[in-house]
Amino acid sequence: MKRYGVIGQPVAHSLSPTIHKAFAEAAAITLDYQALAIDAADLAARLAALHGEGWAGFNVTLPHKQAVMALCQDLSDAARRAGAVNTLTPTPGGWHGDNTDGTGLVQDLARLGVTLAGRRVLVLGAGGAARGIIAPLLATRPASLTISNRNPWKPEALSEAFADLGTLTPRTHWALKGDAYDVIINATSAGHSGAMPPMPEGLFADGAVAYDLSYGKAHLPFAEWSTAQGARTVHDGLGMLVAQAAESFRLWHGVTPDAASVLALLRAD
Ligand code: ATR
Repeated sequence: MKRYGVIGQPVAHSLSPTIHKAFAEAAAITLDYQALAIDAADLAARLAALHGEGWAGFNVTLPHKQAVMALCQDLSDAARRAGAVNTLTPTPGGWHGDNTDGTGLVQDLARLGVTLAGRRVLVLGAGGAARGIIAPLLATRPASLTISNRNPWKPEALSEAFADLGTLTPRTHWALKGDAYDVIINATSAGHSGAMPPMPEGLFADGAVAYDLSYGKAHLPFAEWSTAQGARTVHDGLGMLVAQAAESFRLWHGVTPDAASVLALLRAD
């Protein structure tokens, strides 16, 4: 039986095994999918050993998404642009690194019927999570893409790094005052400490959509803020999690799974 897994630390609570097993069952594919806890210090040696043992693929989660890049034999454009790897596929000489996070976001927004083309899109946060979604967001041809952060340096660096793909407007959160957006995406990690960065009022245009890369408890501060600020709909990132897994599944098995039904299964739990 082919063996797959998710590597991270901690990883015991990862939903990836449940998601991939559900995809496999629906596609009548037999596989084993495990969660492997790996310490950062052991990452290089373990990845080499797992390759030698014939594992058929891995998802990569925190804290290894960036570190794994240097351990790949080659990288997809998406991984190089994102500066992170979330999917590993074995090749004869080592691991091929890919990144399906941004595609997962765009696919989940499409599932929700949220149009990005021609819309004013704002991404809050300019760390690793934000970097991973920029290229796929630019590819949807929004009217504008603004990245805001507490400090201006990270958004400015991102705007330079992606200049060849399109225009990205760097801002501090406070410099957004007076702007209005059609889609606001939270890519800060602030929700994990129960916080929402202080923001100016009135950022949501009429009918605007709020989308959070976080889900569960970490989603609550952004959900509360965007509801209070008049967002028409507010979405957590569970759909993106399932959609990025679906894209990894497609890369490994050549079959596009039905993300919506597996998402419904997770929400029912
Ligand atoms: P990730 O991989 O989740 O993106 P990261 O690279 O550390 O993690 O980036 C975290 C992002 O969340 C950054 O944009 C960070 O803002 P700063 O660059 O100003 O630190 C943002 N962030 C984290 N905690 C925050 C908080 N309490 N308030 C506002 N922004 C926060």
